[in-house]
Parts: sequence; C-alpha cells; structure tokens
Amino acid sequence: MIATANRLKSVQEYYFATKLREVRNLMNAGKPIINAGIGSPDLLPPDHVIPALTAALQDPKAHAYQSYLGLPELREGMASFYKSHYNVDLDSETEIIPLMGSKEGILHISLAFLNKGDQVLIPDPGYPTYASATKLCEAQPVTYNLTAANNWMPDFEALEQLDLSKVKLMWTNYPNMPTGAAGSRAVFEKLVSFARKHNILVVNDNPYSCVGYEKKMSIHQVEGSLECALELNSISKTFNMAGWRVGMLTGNADVLKEVLKVKTNMDSGMFYGIQKGAIAALKTDENWLAEQDKIYQNRRELTLKVAETLDLKPEPQTGGLFVWCKLPQGKEDDKKFVDEVLHNQDIFITPGSIFGMNGEGYVRFSLCVKEEEIAIMLDRVSKKDRT
Ligand SMILES: Cc1ncc(COP(=O)(O)O)c(C=O)c1O
Repeated sequence: MIATANRLKSVQEYYFATKLREVRNLMNAGKPIINAGIGSPDLLPPDHVIPALTAALQDPKAHAYQSYLGLPELREGMASFYKSHYNVDLDSETEIIPLMGSKEGILHISLAFLNKGDQVLIPDPGYPTYASATKLCEAQPVTYNLTAANNWMPDFEALEQLDLSKVKLMWTNYPNMPTGAAGSRAVFEKLVSFARKHNILVVNDNPYSCVGYEKKMSIHQVEGSLECALELNSISKTFNMAGWRVGMLTGNADVLKEVLKVKTNMDSGMFYGIQKGAIAALKTDENWLAEQDKIYQNRRELTLKVAETLDLKPEPQTGGLFVWCKLPQGKEDDKKFVDEVLHNQDIFITPGSIFGMNGEGYVRFSLCVKEEEIAIMLDRVSKKDRT
C-alpha cells in the first residue's frame, strides 16, 4: 500500500466509527442493544420541512450546481434565526456562510488559519474534532481544563499564565458538550476580551443552544465579538435534521471571506432541496421547540433514574441532548464501565475519556432514545445481576 501522509499518523479513526462497528456486530449476533451513545436526534423535523424538500425536487433548478454561498433566502433565513432566537443582527450577505453541517466548518476554519507549528486552545473535555482538525493541519492542540469545580467554564487565570505567543485559534463550545454546561453572558464577555487582548480568533461552536436551555445564547450577543470571534451553528440538533448536513458559520465578513477560499475549493454548493427544507426549518416557531424540550425533559428525568440506579452522579444540567455523569466512588475506568454496561445490560453509552483527560471517570448518556427504550434500560439496570 502507498504510504499515507504524515499528518494522518496524528489522528485515529473517530471513536464512534470503531465502537459502533462493535455495537452493530453485537446486534447482528442477536443482542438487544439500546444505543444511548450517540447524539443523533431520533425525532422528526418540523411538519413543514419535508413538503418543502419534496416540492423543491420538481423544480428544474433543483438538480444543478448550487451557489457556494447558498441561496440568498437560506442566508436570510439564518440571519432571521439569529435575530429571533438570540436577538443578534447579522448581515446575510457577508456575515453568514451556510455549511454542510458545522463539523466541516471546524476543518475549513483550521485550514484557513493554521500553519504548521501554530497552537490552538482546545477545551478538555471537548468535541474530539477540534483536536483532529488541528492535527490534520499540522498545528498543535494545547488543551485548557474544564472541570466540575469550575462549572465546566474556562479558568481565565490559568489561561493567562500560558505562553500564548503561538496561539492563533481557540475553540469554545457553550452550551457545552459533553457536560451540558450552559455558559453565560459573563463567560462570553471574558472570552471576547481574552481574544482581543491576545489577538486570538475564538470560535464558539454552538449547536445545542436551542435544545432545552432557558436562555438561548450566542457569543455574538457580546459587543465586539465580530472583531475577534466566529460562531458555528447547526440545524442538526435544533430541528432534528442531523442527516441533512446543514450548518452555518457567522462572524466578521473579512474572516469569512478567507474561510470561503477553502470551502469553494472543496465543495460545489449544497443541494437545492436541502436548502429549501432548511429554509422552512429555520422559520419554525418557538412552540415547536418548546414541545421538543418537553420530550427531552421527560427523557432526561427517566435517564437520571437509570444513571442513579447505576450509582452514577449526574451533573445538574438542564439542556442539550445528554446526561453527563460521574462514575460511582471507587470506579475510575470509564471505558471499562461502558463495556460492562454494554455486555451486561446491552446498553451502549459513551465513555467520557474520549472527550479528553478531564472526561476520565465520566460517562455520557444520549437523550436521543425513545422513552419506551429508556424504560427498558431502567428495567435492565434495576436487575443488576442480568448477564
Ligand atoms: C459540540 C459539537 N459540535 C459540532 C457537532 C457537529 O454537528 P453538525 O451536525 O452540525 O456537523 C456536534 C455533533 O455531535 C457536536 O456535539
């Protein structure tokens, strides 16, 4: 086989790609596995979305290449979404780029700004893609700690102690995954002033803010954010459309132009029908979101019972798609715990250590599981000696 590029040696296959193969093999062998590992919404998008997609298919324009920047109507929909949910004004012409999911934006931003040897501040625990994209650009991830003791917020005093001379980017993710921590206006203000002071581009990854949180927050609510911060957002979790691959990047027009140089060389626009469906989704009213929140709240309450029956200590968070829990006293190996639950109770959950060192000793339950199945999980964990 031809030798792979050196940069590939710095990354491994994504954890779920490997683990879900094992889970599928168990299922194929007849095991009744319940997958509470991955945050892939199982509910339907709002009612008006699918008709918008299917109607678009008959349009002769639907099958041609599309604009790199998406339909003006899509960008206007994204701007209206920011206005109505966050009270943030964005220029739909220059301050928004539609993406094929926010995940691709993480690599595009990294490719646009990182040279070999540059450093990037990455939250630990955090979404693994921030570090992988950094490494694929031959830059160096420098993790910063998020801990329960600090409510999973960055410790700005510790950050100030670092040598920041090579740091170009900083990834933040509020509301946070995997911990569920909501973030706050005060944290966004500190991030913006930290970024300005040290000339760092902060990117807040914000796909969960419309799922279950009392206040919908964006870093762009802070004055001056457009000078130093970008924000990724997504319809994947908000409107149960993860497979559609629609996200957005928002921020300073000049910065976005640089990201667009990468993106225009990598793809040729988002499928028209998907854009039409996304435009419809973005117009969805608050009541629909409130109904989703109720479903997740019921699931959360039941999942908390499952966690407590396993002697886990759930973090007191209310939003997002997950329940983040500390292992019982005396147990530290989260991967071993996950394997025990997988093989003894036929339940797949995620080990916290895949999100970084500070995730060690934690596990994450997804709420993308029907109530009936969570009830089965509860039944299984209640019979602890089940084999
Ligand atoms: C923190 C975080 N960022 C980004 C993503 C990717 O979302 P998208 O579907 O928009 O690519 C996920 C998905 O699980 C996530 O948890």
